[in-house]
Amino acid sequence: MAHSGPMKPMTAARSGALAGRARVPGDKSISHRSLMFGALSIGETTIDGLLEADDVLNTAGAMRALGADVVRDAGGRWHVRGLGVGGLIEPSNVLDFGNAGTGSRLCMGLVGTHPFATTFVGDASLHKRPMGRVLAPLREMGAEVLARSGDRLPLTIRGPKSPTPISYRLPVASAQVKSCVLLAGLNVAGVTTVIEPVATRDHTEKMLAGFGAELSIETASDGARVIRLQGRPEFRPQAITVPGDPSSAAFPIAAGLIVPGSDVVVENVMLNPTRTGLLDTLVEMGADLAIVNRRLSGGEEIGDVHVRHSVLKGVTVPAERAPSMIDEYPVLAVAAAFAEGTTTMLGLDELRVKESDRLSAVAAGLAANGVVHEEGHDWLKVTGGGRIGGGTVATHMDHRIAMAFLVMGLASGEPVSVDDVTMINTSFPEFHGLMTALGAAIVPAGDA
Ligand code: S3P
Repeated sequence: MAHSGPMKPMTAARSGALAGRARVPGDKSISHRSLMFGALSIGETTIDGLLEADDVLNTAGAMRALGADVVRDAGGRWHVRGLGVGGLIEPSNVLDFGNAGTGSRLCMGLVGTHPFATTFVGDASLHKRPMGRVLAPLREMGAEVLARSGDRLPLTIRGPKSPTPISYRLPVASAQVKSCVLLAGLNVAGVTTVIEPVATRDHTEKMLAGFGAELSIETASDGARVIRLQGRPEFRPQAITVPGDPSSAAFPIAAGLIVPGSDVVVENVMLNPTRTGLLDTLVEMGADLAIVNRRLSGGEEIGDVHVRHSVLKGVTVPAERAPSMIDEYPVLAVAAAFAEGTTTMLGLDELRVKESDRLSAVAAGLAANGVVHEEGHDWLKVTGGGRIGGGTVATHMDHRIAMAFLVMGLASGEPVSVDDVTMINTSFPEFHGLMTALGAAIVPAGDA
C-alpha cells in the first residue's frame, strides 16, 4: 500500500522481565468527541488529558476549519470555543483526516446536516475504507454526496437546507455509524432515532447527555438499544478529563502477561464495560490480572491494571464480545500464540475494514513468525507454542498491527520485526518510550 513518508522498520527482541508502572495516554474515542462537542458549544470547553496523536490532531484541525477556536495551552490543557449546534461554517479547504476512520466518519455526521460543501481526504489506508455505511443514513437525511465509486474518499458532502429526521437501524455493529447519525441528528429539527441491535461503545450517548442534549435510551423487545435524540439542543461547554485508553493499555498489559517474570501496573485505564472485552478474555485465559484503585474520572470508571506473567490457556471468544474489544484482536492473537492450546475468535468480519484488513494482516504476521493458525472469513484460530519469531511483519499502515507484533517479539525465541512504526503516532506516540521504560527491547531494525 502506498505510504507518504519514509517507512521506519523496528525490531523487538526477547526481553528480561518487564517491571514498573506505566500511564497510557488519553482515550482516542473520547478525545475525538471532546473536540467535536466543544465545537458545538458556545463558550469554552476545556479538555485535560487529550490524546495528542495524529488522528486526534487531525480532528482538532478539522474543527478549526469548521470555525471553532481550538488551542492548547502551555500546561497541556486544550481549550475549545465553539459555534453552537448548527453553527459550523463552510471550510475553505479540504479536511484531511490522515489515517482516522473515527475522525472522518463522525465529522461526516457533523457536517452532513449543514447546508454547505465539505471535502474529505485522508491517507492511502483511509481512502480504501468503506464510507457507504455512514453516507447511506446521511443521504436519507437529505445530504448529497459526490464520491468515488464504492463511496470511498476523497468525497464531498453537501448537507440539505432542511434535513429530515430519520429512524435508522444499524446494519453493522459500529459505534462510528451510530455516532455519525446522532451527530447529524443534532442539527435536525425533531427526533432522530438510532436502533442498535448489538451494543457498541457508548461514549457518544454519554457525552451528548453531558453536554445537555435530550436523549433517551430504551431496550426494545428484541434486545436492541433504541436511542432517541431531540434535535437542535443547546450545548453547554464542559470541563472534560479524558481517561486512559484501554485500547493502548492492551499492549503493555499483554506484554506483561507473556514476558516471563514480568510485573507491570498500567494506570488510569478506562473500564467502561463497552470497552473491556479484552480484559474479560485474558482473565478467562488464566491471566494473573487485577484491577486496583477503581475510581471515577470524567463520568467513567477507571482503574489501574496490575498484571504478572501468566501461563495462559486457549479459549473461545464469542462473536457477541467483538464490539467491546474490536481493536484488541491483533494483540489478543499475539497473546494466544504464547498460550497453551487453541484460541478461537469469532465474529471478526469488521476486522476486514479497519486501518488494514486486520484479519489477513494478523494471519500473515503469525505465519511469518511460525505461529500455527487458521484464518476463516470472519474467524481466527491461533494455537500457542512452538518456536515463535524470526519474521518481518507487513503493517499495511496499521498502528495496531505494528504494536501487536512488537509485543510478540518481547517474548519470542527469535526477534520479530515490523516494516514500519510511523503509524503508531496515529494513536500512541508514547508507545516506544513507555515500553522501553518497562524493560522492552525494541530498537530500529538493523540495530538488533
Ligand atoms: C470507534 C469505534 C470503532 C473502533 C474505532 C473507534 C469510535 O469502530 O474500531 O477505533 O470511537 O467510535 P467501529 O465502531 O466502526 O467498529
